[in-house]
Amino acid sequence: MSLKSGGIVILDYGSQTAQLIARRVRELGVYAPLLPYTVTLDQAQDAAPDFRGVILSGGPSSVYDPGAPRLPDWALSGDWPVLGICYGMQLITQALGGAVAGALHREYGMASVQVREPGALFEGLDAGQTVWMSHGDRIERPPDGFRVLAHTDNAPYAAIGDPDRGLFGVQFHPEVVHTEHGAAMLRNFVFGVCGAAADWTPDHLIDASISAIREQVGSGRVLLGMSGGVDSSVAGELIHRAVGDQLLAVFVNHGMLRAGEADAVIALGRQLGWQNLIAVDATEEFLDRLAGITEPETKRQIIGATFADVFEREAARLGALDWLAQGTIYPDVIESAGTGRPGAKRIKSHHNVGGLPDHLRTRLVEPLRDLFKDEVRAVGTRLGLADSIVWRQPFPGPGLGVRCVGEITWERLELLRAADHIFTGELRAAGLLRVGTAQAFAMLLPVRSVGVMGDNRTYDEVIVLRAVTTTDFMTADWARLDHDLLARVSSRIVNEVKGVNRVLYDISTKPPATIEWE
Ligand code: XMP
Repeated sequence: MSLKSGGIVILDYGSQTAQLIARRVRELGVYAPLLPYTVTLDQAQDAAPDFRGVILSGGPSSVYDPGAPRLPDWALSGDWPVLGICYGMQLITQALGGAVAGALHREYGMASVQVREPGALFEGLDAGQTVWMSHGDRIERPPDGFRVLAHTDNAPYAAIGDPDRGLFGVQFHPEVVHTEHGAAMLRNFVFGVCGAAADWTPDHLIDASISAIREQVGSGRVLLGMSGGVDSSVAGELIHRAVGDQLLAVFVNHGMLRAGEADAVIALGRQLGWQNLIAVDATEEFLDRLAGITEPETKRQIIGATFADVFEREAARLGALDWLAQGTIYPDVIESAGTGRPGAKRIKSHHNVGGLPDHLRTRLVEPLRDLFKDEVRAVGTRLGLADSIVWRQPFPGPGLGVRCVGEITWERLELLRAADHIFTGELRAAGLLRVGTAQAFAMLLPVRSVGVMGDNRTYDEVIVLRAVTTTDFMTADWARLDHDLLARVSSRIVNEVKGVNRVLYDISTKPPATIEWE
């Protein structure tokens, strides 16, 4: 039986929290793909064979809008239970002859629900509980056969259900943490109502992934671009466990990595027993091509193009290759499937491995395609990777190149590395790299400032500290770091990093700023 059997299908109606539903269900150990609401039954069964239930996400539309997303014809016609969340509940109501009212009473934020009939959904949960609402339309009259399971002051039909047919709807969002018993409600639905299988665990994922890679790759040779980040490390180790020395991992050191990072990647490869980890120090080539360049996009393009050149050259040196491994993860797959949500605009060019022979592009090995980031981390931990890799914060492909504002020289990079090492070291010691900040780093500005040290005037470099909190990196807030910690970092940087006399803390949110400066 496939690992994906017996799961829950989630149909995406465009809510900001649709991915969270899938993550919550998977946290229960149940496979849950997030699929566009336009999928056919065959496609749904292909994605999740023998699925045991369907969850309809919320969404920004009104069921009365012309062209509003609809229920697929198969959704309510099988013997599987269905849970509609917000817009999903309104779709069920409309489809079965109930009435949905227009957006007269908007409700947003916390609300108290009173459970009237615990039934299967609220089984074992408190009668009064806090939930998170975010909706315009609401149910005016439930379909025949549906009972009111819970209400709030504003929403007489906060939860409705026809338990005999296994159909349920909730106006609030059980997938967000602000809904007190949301996870328990989903557990009740997934196991109590649907009887889903709980075998989506790191151990099973590893076993299934290893067999799938073996089957796909056969005796072929697999090329992996190794960056030392969690995705390429976990993908690499899965492939290594599957096909051993058929894995050829190329690590390009572009000279713009953080303190100790290049050595750490090589040490990791050694620890994992990767026989074919090829480390290329291309620092000089990168810095030569970047000399005198200060314009951010030009810097990014040069770094991207140089990376592609070096990588391709190394790949050519390795001779015939059959497969290209990529650390694509599930959110990338969802985004590129274009499930109807407006795509995020590209503000900066992000570089991936480019310039590879076309025949490799079509022969991809993507062992993390089905996994959310937290699942990649869980698998990484189970594979024995160190916390420093599993919990590594995202680091941009162009590395310190986009944090060394202005011209990139070895001296400036060294100075930045030293300051960054102090900042991240202090955050790590305070336990703030894993929780508390989503990304934290130092930057070097292309301006100097006047200062005084001892009795002497200085005219030295300026370091900016940036630490943000975010879950999706599309929006971000600056981290409210403790002032004493900032004071210690500032004092250590000016004392320990020669040539720096001023330290700033960036208190810009995204938007309007971005996380990186370039
Ligand atoms: P911005 O600066 O656009 O960054 O707010 C959002 C997230 O993307 C990371 N970032 C990159 N990642 N290649 C990457 O792999 C890149 O070229 C790149 N540029 C920015 C950034 O660090 C943050 O996490």
